[in-house]
Amino acid sequence: MASLPGTTDRRIDALLTLLAENSTIVISGAKIAKEIGVTRQQVWRWIEQLRQLGVRVKGHPRTGYHIERVPDILVPQMLSHRLYGTFARRILHFFKVDSTNSVAMRLGELGEPHGAVVLAEEQTAGRGRAGRSWTSEKSAGIYCSILLRPPIPPAHAPLLTLVAGLAARDAAAEDLDALPDIRWPNDLLVDGRKFCGILTEMHAEPDRIHYAVIGLGINVNQSKMPADLTGIATSLRMETGKAHSRLELLIRLLQYFDRYYNQFLADGALPVLRRFAQVSSYYEGKRVRITTATESFTGTTAGLEPSGVLRVARDDGRGIEAVLSGDVAEVS
Ligand code: BTN
Repeated sequence: MASLPGTTDRRIDALLTLLAENSTIVISGAKIAKEIGVTRQQVWRWIEQLRQLGVRVKGHPRTGYHIERVPDILVPQMLSHRLYGTFARRILHFFKVDSTNSVAMRLGELGEPHGAVVLAEEQTAGRGRAGRSWTSEKSAGIYCSILLRPPIPPAHAPLLTLVAGLAARDAAAEDLDALPDIRWPNDLLVDGRKFCGILTEMHAEPDRIHYAVIGLGINVNQSKMPADLTGIATSLRMETGKAHSRLELLIRLLQYFDRYYNQFLADGALPVLRRFAQVSSYYEGKRVRITTATESFTGTTAGLEPSGVLRVARDDGRGIEAVLSGDVAEVS
């Protein structure tokens, strides 16, 4: 397994788990220090760091510490005992990192096995599609990248993106009052505003994918959006008026992803395409503007190709266009 600098110290993870599992009692600094194998001063420093991330730890070195409620921090120990299947075996957590996708791509290069999950509380250079950036406010959203070594040709990679979009859609639906929509290939929308984006990157040869990284950014507890995204983007909290557990949402996301991904490998594209048709208003009959690297045109969506590519009947009479990648916007 590859190791990377900057990942969260496993002992902070242990400290948090210890506090969370004993939330009703005060534990002395000395006891915590002994349990996790560090000095009392180090315990104090880490507790200060956790407080800065919004973890409500009460007490001080003399009286001992206790936690007011189970913290919503995505450290591996809090996740792994709730997960089973492929994506529980190796979870890397960062308090701050440039981009979880960049880390996961590096892991892929270093030979890390299929299924590793990279998480961050904050990204300083979160990346979106088409060279855009992804605003990654500290501990407000989920910033997650999954490393895959899928036994499929690169031409079928759009299906991986659909799999991820379906998993995120089903996971988030449980937190929302309105049904989320999927704008092909994988923007999740609620009432027309985007709350989740997915960036798929890969290293491949013409007939074989060496590794692929699926990066998911979900706006969970942001209370407002940056000015340039007002009206375009939203968060679960802005939609429902209440805070949501990132931990619970992430657990559901990884479980749904495991299920959809394995179904895709076992049964092929058909169940994925059928599910997409059920839950996306963009599947068929939607008036859209498509903007690709080379052109922009309007048309009406006409289903998906077996490889997951979007079919659009062009308004200019040039027939059905298979859109491999590009921006899709609804037009009235
Ligand atoms: C989009 O443009 O809609 C895709 C956004 C993808 C953002 C996520 S956040 C976690 C992962 N790391 C990144 O740098 N990007 C993806």
